[in-house]
Amino acid sequence: MKIGIIGAGQIGGTLIRQYSRAGHLVKMANSSGIEKLRSLALETGASGSTLTDVAIDVDVVVIAIPLIGILELPKQLFKKASASITIIDTCNYYPIRDGRIEDIENGMPESVWVSNQLQRPVIKAYNSILAGSLICSSLSKGDPLRLALPISGDNKQAKDLVSTLIDDSGFDSFDYGTLQDSWRQQPGSPVYCTDLTLTQLKKSIAKARKDLLPERRELGLTFIMKHDPALWMDWWKDFAEYNRVIYESDLSI
Ligand SMILES: NC(=O)c1ccc[n+]([C@@H]2O[C@H](COP(=O)([O-])OP(=O)(O)OC[C@H]3O[C@@H](n4cnc5c(N)ncnc54)[C@H](OP(=O)(O)O)[C@@H]3O)[C@@H](O)[C@H]2O)c1
Repeated sequence: MKIGIIGAGQIGGTLIRQYSRAGHLVKMANSSGIEKLRSLALETGASGSTLTDVAIDVDVVVIAIPLIGILELPKQLFKKASASITIIDTCNYYPIRDGRIEDIENGMPESVWVSNQLQRPVIKAYNSILAGSLICSSLSKGDPLRLALPISGDNKQAKDLVSTLIDDSGFDSFDYGTLQDSWRQQPGSPVYCTDLTLTQLKKSIAKARKDLLPERRELGLTFIMKHDPALWMDWWKDFAEYNRVIYESDLSI
Protein backbone atom coordinates (compact mmCIF):
# COMPACT_ATOMS: atom_id res chain seq x y z
CA MET A 1 0.00 0.00 0.00
CA LYS A 2 1.04 3.61 -0.45
CA ILE A 3 0.76 5.47 2.86
CA GLY A 4 1.25 9.11 3.83
CA ILE A 5 1.91 9.85 7.51
CA ILE A 6 1.49 13.30 9.02
CA GLY A 7 3.55 13.53 12.19
CA ALA A 8 6.76 11.60 12.81
CA GLY A 9 6.91 11.65 16.60
CA GLN A 10 6.18 8.82 19.04
CA ILE A 11 3.15 7.40 17.22
CA GLY A 12 3.83 8.56 13.65
CA GLY A 13 7.51 7.55 13.86
CA THR A 14 6.57 4.10 15.15
CA LEU A 15 4.03 3.56 12.37
CA ILE A 16 6.53 4.78 9.75
CA ARG A 17 8.96 2.11 10.97
CA GLN A 18 6.36 -0.66 11.19
CA TYR A 19 4.68 0.04 7.85
CA SER A 20 8.04 0.37 6.07
CA ARG A 21 9.16 -2.95 7.56
CA ALA A 22 5.91 -4.55 6.40
CA GLY A 23 6.72 -3.51 2.82
CA HIS A 24 4.44 -0.50 2.41
CA LEU A 25 5.61 2.56 0.49
CA VAL A 26 5.62 5.35 3.06
CA LYS A 27 6.00 9.09 2.80
CA MET A 28 5.99 11.33 5.84
CA ALA A 29 5.51 14.98 6.73
CA ASN A 30 5.89 17.06 9.87
CA SER A 31 5.51 20.69 10.89
CA SER A 32 9.14 21.77 10.82
CA GLY A 33 10.29 20.46 7.45
CA ILE A 34 11.97 17.58 5.64
CA GLU A 35 15.46 18.15 7.10
CA LYS A 36 14.30 16.87 10.50
CA LEU A 37 13.07 13.65 8.82
CA ARG A 38 16.39 12.78 7.19
CA SER A 39 17.60 10.20 9.72
CA LEU A 40 14.19 8.49 9.86
CA ALA A 41 14.23 8.38 6.05
CA LEU A 42 17.70 6.79 6.09
CA GLU A 43 16.62 4.28 8.75
CA THR A 44 13.34 3.21 7.15
CA GLY A 45 13.45 4.06 3.45
CA ALA A 46 10.34 6.23 3.90
CA SER A 47 10.56 9.49 2.00
CA GLY A 48 10.17 12.98 3.43
CA SER A 49 7.32 14.99 1.99
CA THR A 50 5.73 18.40 2.33
CA LEU A 51 2.29 18.68 3.90
CA THR A 52 0.99 19.79 0.52
CA ASP A 53 2.09 16.55 -1.16
CA VAL A 54 1.74 13.95 1.58
CA ALA A 55 -1.86 13.01 0.72
CA ILE A 56 -1.33 12.83 -3.05
CA ASP A 57 -1.12 9.42 -4.74
CA VAL A 58 -1.53 7.39 -1.54
CA ASP A 59 -4.17 4.87 -0.42
CA VAL A 60 -4.03 5.83 3.24
CA VAL A 61 -3.16 8.93 5.27
CA VAL A 62 -2.40 8.61 8.97
CA ILE A 63 -2.72 11.73 11.10
CA ALA A 64 -0.45 11.53 14.16
CA ILE A 65 -0.13 15.08 15.48
CA PRO A 66 -1.41 16.97 18.53
CA LEU A 67 -5.17 17.30 17.95
CA ILE A 68 -5.12 21.09 17.75
CA GLY A 69 -2.59 20.84 14.89
CA ILE A 70 -5.49 19.67 12.69
CA LEU A 71 -6.50 23.33 12.42
CA GLU A 72 -3.07 24.22 10.99
CA LEU A 73 -3.05 21.58 8.23
CA PRO A 74 -3.22 23.00 4.70
CA LYS A 75 -6.81 23.68 3.61
CA GLN A 76 -6.04 21.91 0.32
CA LEU A 77 -4.56 18.83 2.02
CA PHE A 78 -6.98 16.37 0.39
CA LYS A 79 -7.87 18.39 -2.70
CA LYS A 80 -5.78 16.25 -5.06
CA ALA A 81 -6.19 13.06 -3.00
CA SER A 82 -8.03 10.03 -4.32
CA ALA A 83 -11.75 10.03 -3.47
CA SER A 84 -11.34 6.56 -1.95
CA ILE A 85 -8.45 7.48 0.36
CA THR A 86 -8.66 6.11 3.93
CA ILE A 87 -7.78 8.63 6.63
CA ILE A 88 -6.72 7.27 10.03
CA ASP A 89 -7.08 9.58 13.01
CA THR A 90 -4.75 8.67 15.88
CA CYS A 91 -5.26 11.94 17.78
CA ASN A 92 -6.46 12.47 21.34
CA TYR A 93 -7.81 15.57 23.02
CA TYR A 94 -5.86 16.86 26.00
CA PRO A 95 -7.03 20.39 26.93
CA ILE A 96 -3.74 21.07 28.71
CA ARG A 97 -1.97 20.63 25.36
CA ASP A 98 -4.68 21.46 22.81
CA GLY A 99 -6.55 24.24 24.59
CA ARG A 100 -10.28 24.07 25.23
CA ILE A 101 -12.36 22.89 22.25
CA GLU A 102 -16.00 23.68 22.98
CA ASP A 103 -17.57 21.09 20.66
CA ILE A 104 -15.59 18.31 22.30
CA GLU A 105 -16.24 19.67 25.79
CA ASN A 106 -19.95 19.55 24.90
CA GLY A 107 -19.76 15.86 24.04
CA MET A 108 -18.82 15.69 20.36
CA PRO A 109 -16.63 12.59 19.87
CA GLU A 110 -13.05 13.74 19.19
CA SER A 111 -12.83 12.02 15.82
CA VAL A 112 -16.14 13.52 14.70
CA TRP A 113 -14.57 16.91 15.41
CA VAL A 114 -11.48 15.90 13.39
CA SER A 115 -13.64 14.66 10.53
CA ASN A 116 -15.62 17.91 10.55
CA GLN A 117 -12.45 20.01 10.40
CA LEU A 118 -11.03 17.95 7.53
CA GLN A 119 -14.41 17.62 5.83
CA ARG A 120 -13.50 14.00 5.17
CA PRO A 121 -14.55 10.72 6.81
CA VAL A 122 -11.93 9.32 9.17
CA ILE A 123 -11.35 6.02 10.91
CA LYS A 124 -10.31 6.26 14.55
CA ALA A 125 -7.47 3.86 15.34
CA TYR A 126 -4.15 3.67 17.23
CA ASN A 127 -5.27 6.47 19.57
CA SER A 128 -5.66 4.02 22.44
CA ILE A 129 -2.25 2.39 22.48
CA LEU A 130 0.88 3.88 23.97
CA ALA A 131 3.78 4.26 21.58
CA GLY A 132 5.77 2.05 23.98
CA SER A 133 3.25 -0.78 23.62
CA LEU A 134 3.13 -0.29 19.87
CA ILE A 135 6.90 -0.73 19.75
CA CYS A 136 7.34 -3.50 22.33
CA SER A 137 4.13 -5.53 22.56
CA SER A 138 3.50 -6.73 19.01
CA LEU A 139 2.89 -10.47 18.67
CA SER A 140 2.16 -12.89 15.83
CA LYS A 141 -1.42 -13.49 14.76
CA GLY A 142 -3.01 -16.25 16.83
CA ASP A 143 -0.89 -15.69 19.94
CA PRO A 144 -3.35 -15.80 22.89
CA LEU A 145 -1.56 -12.85 24.55
CA ARG A 146 -1.74 -10.64 21.45
CA LEU A 147 -3.13 -7.18 22.32
CA ALA A 148 -6.06 -5.69 20.43
CA LEU A 149 -6.94 -2.16 19.31
CA PRO A 150 -10.44 -0.76 18.80
CA ILE A 151 -11.42 0.80 15.46
CA SER A 152 -14.42 3.07 14.85
CA GLY A 153 -15.72 4.64 11.67
CA ASP A 154 -18.54 4.69 9.18
CA ASN A 155 -17.02 2.79 6.24
CA LYS A 156 -16.67 -0.99 6.58
CA GLN A 157 -14.20 -1.32 3.71
CA ALA A 158 -11.94 1.37 5.19
CA LYS A 159 -12.12 -0.28 8.61
CA ASP A 160 -11.11 -3.64 7.07
CA LEU A 161 -8.11 -1.96 5.48
CA VAL A 162 -7.11 -0.36 8.79
CA SER A 163 -7.52 -3.74 10.46
CA THR A 164 -4.97 -5.18 7.98
CA LEU A 165 -2.51 -2.41 8.83
CA ILE A 166 -2.99 -3.00 12.56
CA ASP A 167 -2.27 -6.68 11.94
CA ASP A 168 0.93 -5.61 10.14
CA SER A 169 1.84 -3.73 13.34
CA GLY A 170 1.40 -6.98 15.31
CA PHE A 171 -2.01 -6.44 16.95
CA ASP A 172 -5.58 -7.68 16.68
CA SER A 173 -8.38 -5.17 16.13
CA PHE A 174 -11.99 -4.84 17.12
CA ASP A 175 -14.48 -2.91 15.00
CA TYR A 176 -16.67 -1.36 17.66
CA GLY A 177 -18.93 0.73 15.47
CA THR A 178 -19.50 4.15 13.92
CA LEU A 179 -17.56 7.36 14.41
CA GLN A 180 -20.34 8.54 16.73
CA ASP A 181 -19.50 5.51 18.90
CA SER A 182 -15.80 6.35 18.88
CA TRP A 183 -15.92 8.13 22.28
CA ARG A 184 -15.65 4.62 23.73
CA GLN A 185 -11.96 4.52 22.80
CA GLN A 186 -11.11 8.05 23.96
CA PRO A 187 -8.90 8.94 26.95
CA GLY A 188 -10.68 7.97 30.18
CA SER A 189 -12.23 4.83 28.68
CA PRO A 190 -11.37 1.35 30.05
CA VAL A 191 -9.76 0.51 26.69
CA TYR A 192 -7.54 3.61 26.58
CA CYS A 193 -3.87 2.68 26.92
CA THR A 194 -4.65 -0.34 29.09
CA ASP A 195 -3.12 -3.08 26.89
CA LEU A 196 -5.98 -5.57 26.56
CA THR A 197 -6.34 -8.78 24.61
CA LEU A 198 -9.26 -9.04 22.19
CA THR A 199 -11.43 -10.85 24.74
CA GLN A 200 -10.66 -8.27 27.44
CA LEU A 201 -11.18 -5.39 25.02
CA LYS A 202 -14.62 -6.64 23.98
CA LYS A 203 -15.73 -6.79 27.61
CA SER A 204 -14.13 -3.49 28.65
CA ILE A 205 -15.33 -1.33 25.79
CA ALA A 206 -18.95 -2.11 26.62
CA LYS A 207 -18.33 -0.66 30.09
CA ALA A 208 -17.09 2.75 28.90
CA ARG A 209 -18.98 5.66 30.46
CA LYS A 210 -19.13 8.90 28.52
CA ASP A 211 -19.91 10.98 31.59
CA LEU A 212 -16.71 9.83 33.33
CA LEU A 213 -14.28 10.23 30.42
CA PRO A 214 -12.98 13.77 31.15
CA GLU A 215 -12.50 13.14 34.87
CA ARG A 216 -10.72 9.84 34.28
CA ARG A 217 -8.61 11.37 31.48
CA GLU A 218 -7.41 14.03 33.91
CA LEU A 219 -6.63 11.35 36.52
CA GLY A 220 -4.51 9.55 33.93
CA LEU A 221 -2.80 12.83 33.16
CA THR A 222 -1.64 13.25 36.76
CA PHE A 223 0.57 10.18 36.21
CA ILE A 224 2.06 11.62 33.01
CA MET A 225 2.73 14.98 34.67
CA LYS A 226 4.86 13.30 37.33
CA HIS A 227 7.13 11.67 34.75
CA ASP A 228 9.77 13.03 32.40
CA PRO A 229 8.30 13.02 28.86
CA ALA A 230 11.77 12.47 27.39
CA LEU A 231 12.06 9.18 29.33
CA TRP A 232 8.68 7.77 28.18
CA MET A 233 10.22 4.43 27.19
CA ASP A 234 11.09 3.91 30.88
CA TRP A 235 7.60 4.43 32.29
CA TRP A 236 4.98 3.53 29.67
CA LYS A 237 4.34 0.08 31.20
CA ASP A 238 3.58 1.62 34.61
CA PHE A 239 1.21 4.08 32.92
CA ALA A 240 -0.73 1.25 31.27
CA GLU A 241 -0.96 -0.51 34.65
CA TYR A 242 -2.13 2.69 36.35
CA ASN A 243 -4.79 3.21 33.66
CA ARG A 244 -6.09 -0.34 34.10
CA VAL A 245 -6.87 0.47 37.71
CA ILE A 246 -8.43 3.92 37.32
CA TYR A 247 -10.32 3.17 34.11
CA GLU A 248 -11.65 -0.12 35.55
CA SER A 249 -10.67 -2.27 32.60
CA ASP A 250 -12.10 -5.77 32.61
CA LEU A 251 -9.24 -8.20 33.07
CA SER A 252 -11.32 -11.15 34.22
CA ILE A 253 -10.35 -13.19 31.15
N1 LIG B 1 2.55 9.14 22.34
C1 LIG B 1 1.63 8.19 22.51
O1 LIG B 1 1.88 7.17 23.17
C2 LIG B 1 0.29 8.34 21.85
C3 LIG B 1 -0.55 7.23 21.84
C4 LIG B 1 -1.77 7.27 21.16
C5 LIG B 1 -2.16 8.44 20.54
N2 LIG B 1 -1.36 9.54 20.60
C6 LIG B 1 -1.85 10.76 19.95
O2 LIG B 1 -1.18 10.82 18.69
C7 LIG B 1 -0.91 12.17 18.34
C8 LIG B 1 0.60 12.33 18.16
O3 LIG B 1 1.22 12.06 19.41
P1 LIG B 1 2.80 11.82 19.54
O4 LIG B 1 3.04 11.44 20.95
O5 LIG B 1 3.28 10.95 18.44
O6 LIG B 1 3.34 13.31 19.31
P2 LIG B 1 4.84 13.82 19.21
O7 LIG B 1 5.79 12.75 19.59
O8 LIG B 1 4.88 15.12 19.93
O9 LIG B 1 5.01 14.09 17.63
C9 LIG B 1 4.21 15.02 16.99
C10 LIG B 1 4.55 15.03 15.51
O10 LIG B 1 3.55 15.82 14.87
C11 LIG B 1 4.19 16.83 14.08
N3 LIG B 1 3.31 17.99 14.07
C12 LIG B 1 2.92 18.76 15.11
N4 LIG B 1 2.07 19.72 14.71
C13 LIG B 1 1.94 19.56 13.36
C14 LIG B 1 1.21 20.24 12.36
N5 LIG B 1 0.43 21.29 12.65
N6 LIG B 1 1.32 19.82 11.09
C15 LIG B 1 2.11 18.75 10.78
N7 LIG B 1 2.82 18.06 11.68
C16 LIG B 1 2.72 18.45 12.96
C17 LIG B 1 5.52 17.08 14.76
O11 LIG B 1 6.38 17.65 13.81
P3 LIG B 1 7.66 18.53 14.26
O12 LIG B 1 8.54 17.60 15.03
O13 LIG B 1 8.23 19.00 12.98
O14 LIG B 1 7.09 19.62 15.12
C18 LIG B 1 5.89 15.65 15.17
O15 LIG B 1 6.47 14.96 14.10
C19 LIG B 1 -1.46 13.03 19.50
O16 LIG B 1 -2.74 13.48 19.18
C20 LIG B 1 -1.50 12.05 20.66
O17 LIG B 1 -2.47 12.41 21.63
C21 LIG B 1 -0.13 9.51 21.23
